[in-house]
Amino acid sequence: MANVTVIGAQWGDEGKGKVVDWLASRADIVVRFQGGHNAGHTLVVGNQTYKLSLLPSGLVRGKMGVIGNGVVVDPVALLAEMDRVRAQGLNVSPDNLRIADNAPLILPLHAALDRAREAARGERKIGTTGRGIGPAYEDKVARRAIRMCDLAEPQTLSDKLDELLLHHNTLLRGLGADTFEKQQLLDDLLALAPRILPHVEQVWVRLDEARRAGQRILFEGAQAVMLDVDHGTYPFVTSSNTIAATAASGSGMPPSAVGFVLGIAKAYCTRVGSGPFPTELTDEIGRKLGERGHEFGTVTGRPRRCGWFDAAMVHQAVKVGGITGLALTKLDVLDGMPELKICTGYELGGQTLRFLPAAPGAQAAAKPIFETVEGWSGSTRGARSWADLPAQAIKYVRRIEELVEAPVTLLSTSPERDDTILMRDPFEG
Ligand code: GDP
Ligand code: IMO
Ligand code: MG
Repeated sequence: MANVTVIGAQWGDEGKGKVVDWLASRADIVVRFQGGHNAGHTLVVGNQTYKLSLLPSGLVRGKMGVIGNGVVVDPVALLAEMDRVRAQGLNVSPDNLRIADNAPLILPLHAALDRAREAARGERKIGTTGRGIGPAYEDKVARRAIRMCDLAEPQTLSDKLDELLLHHNTLLRGLGADTFEKQQLLDDLLALAPRILPHVEQVWVRLDEARRAGQRILFEGAQAVMLDVDHGTYPFVTSSNTIAATAASGSGMPPSAVGFVLGIAKAYCTRVGSGPFPTELTDEIGRKLGERGHEFGTVTGRPRRCGWFDAAMVHQAVKVGGITGLALTKLDVLDGMPELKICTGYELGGQTLRFLPAAPGAQAAAKPIFETVEGWSGSTRGARSWADLPAQAIKYVRRIEELVEAPVTLLSTSPERDDTILMRDPFEG
């Protein structure tokens, strides 16, 4: 039986949460495999809106949620999120939330370093979420991270904190920021450990068993291919790999477990934070897209930058991300726009490029080559079948399929769970 991996195909906030929630009804387990609480996934179910950062979106459907080893977990943020969704009536317990024992922790010093570095960068800041994601991944790769399993070993925790503080306090002092006391950090971790540890286990064993028992696993990506630390618009990226291949390494499953890769893309394009954005619209049309699409960051509340659909970029995401099919969201936001543009490539120094180059200077200078298409006067808002779509909207979707070389297998026409059109069930392969 096929598994499904959902990843973002642009710069994040494409509607992964809505799509994962929708697909979760067909899955047994939902797994987060990278990122941290920089993610903000919105699910609208009737009159309830859930904003999830660390919790796998399948929890809202009552499915088993797993936080894999590839995720960096801020335990304070996780506990706060658990309390928040419990207050909304959801059940979160060790019976339905399992956390990898080898997942690294985010501590307050990571967020402090993240923010101090951003302040020091000034104009050249990345525009991070300030939640310590980058510094936590650095510690993982530098082999000094505190991991979930360490919460059960006070002596290990104590020794690791010594090593961490030697490194971090030196950096923080150099940046003119406040330093941290070991005893306070240790006390805080030991105090929260009893609430976290009942969730902690070797999740790869559970996933392996589930797979052999024929259960369906849904991998929930965070961020997006253009924010991937290798393949994105570096250095304006997040600090993890966001492509589908990471679902395996970030959960302890074999690459063959990744299954059908559903790339999520908005019918236009947005970005939060700094960095190149070739199709960005700084005019009235961009403002209108932001207003109609309610484009404000789920985590930080910052207004999202808006622009036309960049087919060259999504084509690139299809290739490096391993995308089998595309879910196109927010088609309704384009309703009533007389004319739409799609970027088909870039012009740089008199040459035509099919894909965005890697060098930051070239990325910033690449000019989009646009194709103009006719808009539609009817409404797609809330459509639940292909037959409900205006002919011109269908044409727009078909043109995107052609340009990105991937079929559109799902369409989303409002934030609401059931306002979704399924053309091909990804669990059927
Ligand atoms: P994620 O990070 O990819 O899960 O996306 P976010 O939740 O951060 O941002 C997507 C926003 O678009 C959320 O506010 C969703 O409720 C909303 N949304 C998702 N799909 C649609 C859609 O088809 N139409 C409209 N109008 N809004 C949508
Ligand atoms: P979801 O899962 C949109 C962006 C930040 C910043 C860059 C680095 O909701 O799609 P970080 O804090 O990760 O070091 O910031 O990445 N970013 C996101 N943008 N959606 C997200 O997640 C994002 N997570 C990080 O704005 O530009
Ligand atoms: Mg988001």
